[in-house]
Formats: sequence, structure tokens, C-alpha cells
Amino acid sequence: MRVTTHKQDVLVWDMPVRVFHWLLVISFAGAWLTAESEAQQMLHYAFGYSACALVLFRLVWGVMGTRYARFTQFIKGPNNTWHHIKLLLTSKGSLRFGSNLGHNPAGALAMISLMVLVMLIGISGYWIVKDFYGDFMSEAHETIANITLGVVIIHVLAAVIMSFMQKENLVKAMVTGKKQGTPSQAIRGPLNLVGILLILAWAYLMFLFYTGAMASLTQ
Ligand code: HEM
Ligand code: HEM
Repeated sequence: MRVTTHKQDVLVWDMPVRVFHWLLVISFAGAWLTAESEAQQMLHYAFGYSACALVLFRLVWGVMGTRYARFTQFIKGPNNTWHHIKLLLTSKGSLRFGSNLGHNPAGALAMISLMVLVMLIGISGYWIVKDFYGDFMSEAHETIANITLGVVIIHVLAAVIMSFMQKENLVKAMVTGKKQGTPSQAIRGPLNLVGILLILAWAYLMFLFYTGAMASLTQ
């Protein structure tokens, strides 16, 4: 049997990972844009809570999802992460961590921090609504949101810089799901149905929060 090593477009991000990412971007941006307006308060809660729901989904998908979606693929421990960051800072030209097409350890660190931060914003938001620790909670909520925005900016810059270093458009890969690799590196399938169900579930949750049907979380 001939094993081909010729590089071609192979699928690495399944549909649920891509849908998760871009819905998270929409939810985070939506929560920002509605943060200061009292008239859009319900929309703010809806975007904020649905961002948290997406993160919860991603936790499950990190165990059940396809090859590169799994946490065991890219969470390699502090030593490995540090080694990789040092390598990034010192080496020139294109580099990829081993033959792995998924997240590199530095990217994984950004991903985990963003998911934890989004959950913390959601929990502090819930506590504001429940009038828990008054002004302090409002301050905490806003501060965590600002820190998250900072990490998002670093994350986007890193994605662009890494794209140049690896000579591969990583943002496009998060849209199409494809990167350059060998057929043996591809995932088992796009799992489009799970992605479509995720979009529907997100839209339904947005509707429930917006209309006040989840009163225990919004008042
Ligand atoms: C327009 C802005 C954004 C762009 C262009 C962008 C780009 C990307 C890219 C290219 C990756 C894949 C990195 C890799 O190949 O290892 C990624 C992953 C990720 N990004 Fe973003 N991102 C954006 C905004 C955000 C925001 C606002 C959040 C969260 C608040 C976020 C959270 C994440 C997470 C959690 C992952 C990991 C995806 C997964 O494995 O499920 N991103 N992003
Ligand atoms: C990704 C999600 C979220 C982001 C980025 C975000 C961001 C913000 C920001 C920046 C503010 C301050 C606005 C100002 O300048 O006054 C704010 C206010 C607020 N947020 Fe969020 N938020 C999110 C999710 C939530 C959630 C899930 C809730 C819970 C229901 C919530 C409830 C509130 C409330 C009640 C305020 C007003 C605080 C006050 O009394 O000043 N937020 N949010």
C-alpha cells in the first residue's frame, strides 16, 4: 500500500468547533455592544449567557469531539507549554509543533483562559442580577470583561502573526476547517449535523433569555 505524504487540504476543525468559535465571537461582541444600554438589557443577558452555554458545550466537545477538538490533543502541561513559547520566541521562519495540525500549546493556553474568563463574566453577571455584593460585583464584572477583551485582542493578533510564521491562514482555517496536511492527519468527518443543532440550540437560548422565559437567571 502506498502512503501519500503529499501536502493537501485536509479537514482538521469539525463543524461544531467552527460554529462554537464564530457564535462565541458573535455572543461576546453582542454582549459588549449592549453592555451600557438599559433598553438592551435583556439582549445583554441573552448574549452573555449564551456565550457561557457555548463554553459548556465546548467542554463536552473537548471529550467527545473529533481528533483536534479533544483537550488531550493540545493540553500538554506547563513545561511543554513553556518550552513551546520559548521556541516561538527564539526560532525564525515557519514552525509547527511536531506534526500536530491542531492547536499549539500557546494557542491552547489562550483558548483555556478565554473560556474560563467568559464563564467568570457570566457568573459575576448573574450575581449582579441577584444583588450579591452590590457595587463590588458590578466593578468585578466590568473588570473581568475588560481583561477578557485584552486577551481577545492578543488572541486575534497572535492568530494573524502565527499565520505569517506558519505560512498558513489560520483564520481562514477556522472558517473552512481545512489546513495543509497529509490525508492521514484528517479528522473522521465534518459532523455537520451537530454543528447545525448547535446553531439552533444557541438561537433558541437567545430567544428564551431575551423574552425573559429564564426568569430565575435574569431577575
Ligand atoms: C474576529 C475575532 C477572532 C478571530 C479572527 C479569531 C481567530 C481564531 C483562530 C484562527 C483560532 C484557531 C487557532 C489555532 O489554529 O490554533 C481561534 C480559536 C479560538 N478562539 Fe478565536 N478568534 C476571534 C475571536 C475570539 C473571541 C472573541 C473569543 C472568545 C471570547 C475567541 C475564543 C477562541 C477559542 C476558545 C478558540 C479555540 C477554539 C476551539 O478549539 O474550539 N476567539 N480563534
Ligand atoms: C461575554 C459576556 C459579557 C460581557 C462581555 C459583559 C460586559 C459588560 C460590561 C463591559 C458592563 C459594564 C457596562 C458599563 O460600562 O456600565 C456590563 C454590565 C452589566 N452586565 Fe454584563 N457582560 C457579559 C455577560 C453578562 C451576563 C451573563 C449577565 C447576567 C445576567 C450580565 C449582566 C450585567 C449587568 C446587570 C450589568 C450592569 C452592571 C451595573 O450595575 O453597572 N452581563 N457587562
